[in-house]
Amino acid sequence: MTTPTGIEAISLALPRRYLDLEDLARARGIAPEKLTVGLGGRRMSVPDPGEDSVSLAATAVARLLAQTGIERERIGQLIVGTESAVDHAKPIASFVQGLLGLPHTMRTYDAQHACYGGTAGLMASAAWIASGAADGQVAIVVAADVARYGVGTAGEPTQGAGAVAMLVSAQPAVLALDLGVCGVSSADVHDFWRPLGRREALVDGHYSIECYLEALAGAYTRWRSRARGRGLLAEGAGSLPSEHLARVLYHVPFCKMARKAHARVRQADLEAIDAAANEAETALSFDRQVKSSLEVCAEVGNVYTASLYVALLGALRRDADALRGRRIGLFSYGSGCCGEFFSGVVGDGAAEALRKVGVEALLEGRERIDVAEYERIMGLPVDPAPWEEPLEGRYRFVGVADGRRRYAGGRGGPQIVRLS
Ligand code: HMG
Repeated sequence: MTTPTGIEAISLALPRRYLDLEDLARARGIAPEKLTVGLGGRRMSVPDPGEDSVSLAATAVARLLAQTGIERERIGQLIVGTESAVDHAKPIASFVQGLLGLPHTMRTYDAQHACYGGTAGLMASAAWIASGAADGQVAIVVAADVARYGVGTAGEPTQGAGAVAMLVSAQPAVLALDLGVCGVSSADVHDFWRPLGRREALVDGHYSIECYLEALAGAYTRWRSRARGRGLLAEGAGSLPSEHLARVLYHVPFCKMARKAHARVRQADLEAIDAAANEAETALSFDRQVKSSLEVCAEVGNVYTASLYVALLGALRRDADALRGRRIGLFSYGSGCCGEFFSGVVGDGAAEALRKVGVEALLEGRERIDVAEYERIMGLPVDPAPWEEPLEGRYRFVGVADGRRRYAGGRGGPQIVRLS
């Protein structure tokens, strides 16, 4: 029998500010409904230059350590999935190791494949634990990103930022993964990319949606065939294979994408039995299996590698008790592209783990800014200005000295930072 493996605990870090999408729509002269209904969003996180992916990742890991009280010596690897790295060679994982004083015996690296990097880290960690090579140790997987498009572009309302950190172990209190039951679909496509030296991504927006849906259909059908082979789909008359999943969570670049994705999954099921889609049934199924997972996504925007895990937080925040012992499906998509559909069973400790994340407090603690302030922040240089507010347990990039990136915050509580 395979060792149960998966997510034991989870944490979240968000920038301090957000922009309301209705404010953005009015400033751009477009109907607010295009963003709130057409794209399905409400707000997006706006990081300032001090809130880079290292500081967001370090803040999320510090919270994970505080939430779990895990002994640091037990951490055998730290993998950061990101597409907003701060250096061409030194990984974010090393910065986080140094900032948090994590053991020198652990493996550290970043995983990059657009929004898929966090899932790549999760799969590598789960395999390491299940193989026995971890020898009782645990892994931390962080998905940390700053999603940045140009001001005034079509991608602008789909920005966001944040980090999710996960403790991966043989005690999967939050989600026990169905190891080996996954479906992958990858291809060499230019749907979204960020050439070296550019701060903003380049994207072929409508084509990227096609690539996402194509990868989803391939990954889902492969997952379905493996899940059937393992007897995970006890199919009854009149129900589709995907309906055996209590929830289906998707990578969420914008909330409407999850609706398109869910319709594509149902279409794949219906094609297999030569049946036609019924719009009302698709809408009902979306409400039942997907909708609750989008509540936090709608507040923070696209968080690239972390988006799928923000959706997981959304679903568990609402229904962790009801989902206990039930199987959910997850689809991770990284442009370029690689899509993976996998599944897992919600654990007994999910509700308690979610309480410790404190999602409401993190959302409510943010400050709303207007479009002028958002545009000012977007125009700031990469090196942040001196910072003179208390950090309150967060990490912050404070500037480059001697060619090295410097960070402040974390241990020791509130601090005032002045770069000389
Ligand atoms: P756009 O061209 O400005 O928008 O860009 P649109 O004209 O396609 O309209 C969007 C929706 O709003 C449409 O709905 C309209 O009908 C509707 P749909 O037909 O799609 O269902 N609409 C309205 N609804 C209500 N009231 C109105 C109204 N007007 C229009 N008045 C696009 C949209 C997403 C392309 C753009 O924002 C973009 O380029 N975003 C970035 C790329 C992206 O998010 N791609 C998603 C798939 S790729 C992915 O997920 C990977 C990624 O996360 C990166 C990675 O992997 O690293 C991006």
